[in-house]
Amino acid sequence: MEYRYLGNTGVKVSALCLGCLTFGRETDETTSRQILDRFASAGGNFLDTADVYSLGASEEIVGRWLHDAGHRQQIILATKVFSRMGAGPNDEGLSRKHICDAVEASLRRLHTDYIDLYQVHCWDSRTPLAETLAALDDLVRAGKVRYIGASNFAGWHLMKALATSDAHGWARFISLQPQYSLIVRETEWELIPLCQAEGLAVLPWSPLGSGWLTGKYRSGQEPPEDSRVGRAYKRGDDRWRSRENERTWGILAALDAVAAARGKTQAQVALAWLLAQPVVTSPIIGARTVAQLESNLGCLGWSLSAEELAQLDTASALRLPYPYDFIRNAQRV
Ligand SMILES: NC(=O)c1ccc[n+]([C@@H]2O[C@H](COP(=O)([O-])OP(=O)(O)OC[C@H]3O[C@@H](n4cnc5c(N)ncnc54)[C@H](OP(=O)(O)O)[C@@H]3O)[C@@H](O)[C@H]2O)c1
Repeated sequence: MEYRYLGNTGVKVSALCLGCLTFGRETDETTSRQILDRFASAGGNFLDTADVYSLGASEEIVGRWLHDAGHRQQIILATKVFSRMGAGPNDEGLSRKHICDAVEASLRRLHTDYIDLYQVHCWDSRTPLAETLAALDDLVRAGKVRYIGASNFAGWHLMKALATSDAHGWARFISLQPQYSLIVRETEWELIPLCQAEGLAVLPWSPLGSGWLTGKYRSGQEPPEDSRVGRAYKRGDDRWRSRENERTWGILAALDAVAAARGKTQAQVALAWLLAQPVVTSPIIGARTVAQLESNLGCLGWSLSAEELAQLDTASALRLPYPYDFIRNAQRV
């Protein structure tokens, strides 16, 4: 396992972070613990969960595993706050009240007295930003939280938050958790350059596009029943329609070609593409089964050539929108 610095901090995390979204949802506790054991035995030391994942069940499973396996000190544990956790008017968002209540509940479920990386799960347009940032700074000073991070922010949200924290001498966000993959590359327009300029770790979520980049969804075929998109398709959810388009099939064709030439799976190639992006710290991989994790760990220990990266870049390229196109074209040499 390769280890990388978590942004501008002195902490080293594994080049893959294990996402715990499936735990207590499509993956039962026994399998979740096997996945955690396998990830730890491969040298993984970085876990990502959230209070809302199966409304607390994911944190509880991780907490019991940390406690029983005696791994707490070696693990860099990340969780999140923002989503609705109860029926009350203050059971969601980034108010000081909800953050203070939510962190205590997460600590209880996680069987720990500190969280390594406490992330705000989404921008909250209704809470003053300074209220949120001051509350997070208090948690850091109290030792309940060691670092803070953001997820699902726009560029201006993140830059305003960093500037506000800096102006007050508060703890600043050290990481961003954005959606980022060969399918979702809009992240590169604003957020990636910002993270690069400000020294933030980038922790891509859904690095396989929720399973699309494994190659199991194909043009003209119904999604397999035992898959995330297949289960959603059965429920009448729009996940299939939103991505069954020419761009997706073009990306999959490029993945197929690179995977066949290198003797790798499509998922391993898609993860290797993310690992090759200089700004990416650790993609947050998700697994429903131990076999999926086992297979996806095969993205480590080798790298894509410049030609292969170019092939994948070309197939997944997006048209640069305004103002990014204007700025690029106007630059001086
Ligand atoms: N901050 C946020 O808003 C946010 C949002 C989403 C996720 N996340 C984080 O990111 C983590 C990863 O997200 P994700 O689960 O969407 O990641 P992903 O890696 O894009 O998708 C994982 C899913 O793809 C399928 N899969 C994985 N490996 C496979 C393989 N080798 N062969 C076939 N299918 C395979 C599995 O689903 P099926 O087998 O069921 O199809 C698995 O659950 C989460 O655990 C969470 O920690 C954060």
